Amino acid sequence: MAAKARFLMLAVSTLVCLSAVAASAFDVPSVAFDEGFTPLFGDDNLVRSRDDRSVRLLLDRRSGSGFISSDYYLHGFFSASIKLPRDYTAGVVVAFYLSNGDMYEKTHDELDFEFLGSRWGAQWRVQTNVYGNGSTDHGREERYLLPFDPTLEAHRYSVLWAPTHVIFYIDDTPIREVIRHPDMGGDFPSKPMAVYATIWDGSTWATDNGKYKVNYKYAPFTSQFSDLALRGCRVDPALRVSRRHDGADDCGLLGLVTADYAVMTPQKRAAMRAFRARHMTYTVCYDAMRYAAGPFPECDNSDEEKASFSAWGESKTVVMRQRARGRRRGRRAGAKARAEVASS
Ligand SMILES: *[C@@H]1O[C@H](CO)[C@@H](O)[C@H](O)[C@H]1NC(C)=O
Repeated sequence: MAAKARFLMLAVSTLVCLSAVAASAFDVPSVAFDEGFTPLFGDDNLVRSRDDRSVRLLLDRRSGSGFISSDYYLHGFFSASIKLPRDYTAGVVVAFYLSNGDMYEKTHDELDFEFLGSRWGAQWRVQTNVYGNGSTDHGREERYLLPFDPTLEAHRYSVLWAPTHVIFYIDDTPIREVIRHPDMGGDFPSKPMAVYATIWDGSTWATDNGKYKVNYKYAPFTSQFSDLALRGCRVDPALRVSRRHDGADDCGLLGLVTADYAVMTPQKRAAMRAFRARHMTYTVCYDAMRYAAGPFPECDNSDEEKASFSAWGESKTVVMRQRARGRRRGRRAGAKARAEVASS
């Protein structure tokens, strides 16, 4: 099965190269909130636009808020344009993710975008994570700085989930690819999941490991979700995995794995590597402290990347910490770091 899938991917990427398709914005239709989603929690803190095509999720002293897809999906492409809350947002977490934690308590799957609030307005960090079959004791986190101010305007965050691989995108740039490796076993998400969007108080861990809490003086914290896209095979999760690919919805796997967002062209892979070299601040793949037995089987480690690990990771964090003390020298260093990130 895996070999067959890999052959298919190879054939597909060759085809794409031959036809010289330029990498361009995905053409994915969006749905109105009511067509694909239901409020999950937070009542008044979930505010739908008049045309129902965008939703604001607020966090205040009383509550966060969230919504969930009305259906469960087995594989697909899931996307939202998100504008993050402004100003001081330490401790605030905004999340856009797939999960089946409500359905499979001990063996759940998850694919996450988590946005970790910042003390400096624009400096949100983004975390991606992958869990399969309840593998939460070996998290597969990665964190990145953003090459733009995510509070000024909406940017698109997407997850492609195929049986063979997962790709996380920011706008049209792939930032992470997880190719299913046989040794991952159950760690690769394989049961139907719902799509969630939430905002909540992550004071205990979100910003510098919980050092900086949510300050409700700045509430309400307002995130905005629009361009909601759900391209996938809807299934009844109670039936466990129904592998009927016969008609309604996007249940044809061939259609999914040949869509532009599922195919990693050489250009896209180059863009991904460039993004990661510049913006990734943490990846489990090089975390020998946490995983002494070596990297996960799917990690695509290189000596070059390993050598620059401390350069991407620690220096950026240290600069921000200096700035936190509010000393003039530190502030200049912080401004320089921001300029560097912004100039890419
Ligand atoms: C998932 O976990 C359950 C319980 O630990 C186990 O019985 C099952 O074999 C696992 N499935 C896979 C695909 O690894």
